[in-house]
Amino acid sequence: MLKHFIQTQDYSKQELLKIIELARLLKAADKDGACPPLLRGASLGMIFEEPSTRTRISFEVAMTKLGGHALYLKPGEIHLGARESIADTARVVSRMVDVIEARTLTHETITELARHATVPVINGLTDYNHPTQVLCDVLTMIEHAPDGRKIEDLKVTFVGDATNVCSSLMWICTRMGMDFTHAAPKKYQVPADWVKIARTNCETSGGSLTITDDPAAAVAEADFIYTDLWWWVGQEEEIPDREAAFMPDFQVNAHLLGKAPTTAKVMHCLPASRGVEATDDVLDGPQSIIFDQAENRLHAEKAILVWFTYPHLSRPLDHLIAHHKDRVDAFLADGV
Ligand code: CP
Repeated sequence: MLKHFIQTQDYSKQELLKIIELARLLKAADKDGACPPLLRGASLGMIFEEPSTRTRISFEVAMTKLGGHALYLKPGEIHLGARESIADTARVVSRMVDVIEARTLTHETITELARHATVPVINGLTDYNHPTQVLCDVLTMIEHAPDGRKIEDLKVTFVGDATNVCSSLMWICTRMGMDFTHAAPKKYQVPADWVKIARTNCETSGGSLTITDDPAAAVAEADFIYTDLWWWVGQEEEIPDREAAFMPDFQVNAHLLGKAPTTAKVMHCLPASRGVEATDDVLDGPQSIIFDQAENRLHAEKAILVWFTYPHLSRPLDHLIAHHKDRVDAFLADGV
């Protein structure tokens, strides 16, 4: 059955952990220089309506390491919703590639793509969520969990604006049964409809959700302190208001880190505005795991690509390949 990866909420804790375990297997293979070519001959169409460093590179390299090929379709390069409907684009691209990854400006665009695609569609970030990022983040947390701590015992505090990464992190952490806290000025806290989803997760997972405007209390018991940009493209006019609301209390700096356990790790999805939501000394300090986290995008993408694509690939038998090669050889030998 065709499955898309549009939001982590579409998958159970067990399914998400299985993909993460697959990422660990493929990471170990990669470290041995022995990544199995599971997607040999397969193609990935990467549609980007916004620029990207990590998502673009990790998906393209993942595909190469798995023996496949990726096409980078940069902003404005294809007729996506302009000159051709999103539905027709989905139908056409599906006839030519085995899997689609898309970063779209609106969440509606990716859901429309997925509705009409006949190959798996993977969400590479929308204005609503960033599921591939947070799957990678849970992988990174498992790798950096304090000794003996189970995933359900981890405490994650997100300090800063209620971004698409914040929403996704809140949903996956509460799905996993972790204790998730969002610390932000009241105006920038996660909205009620997002909170409702997380609270429903907690009811079944045993996790907890805290929303607060007290960053010091929020980090006091945190295993992981996560932050993200305070503003994005299109929010330039809001910068003075946002800066006034977040600075200095919600900046992840040495003062705030001093309120957390000494074992707490600092995370950031990147790109970072250094000196704004987090300071250089913290981002480059001994508690930071931001570059381990960035590298794990590659290993997570490999697992996501294999999980959603490998079961659908046809794996022709050698004799069938030889049969078709013989036919082409004979045809060409015939001349004009
Ligand atoms: N974190 C993340 O998605 O980075 P890019 O925008 O560089 O892809």
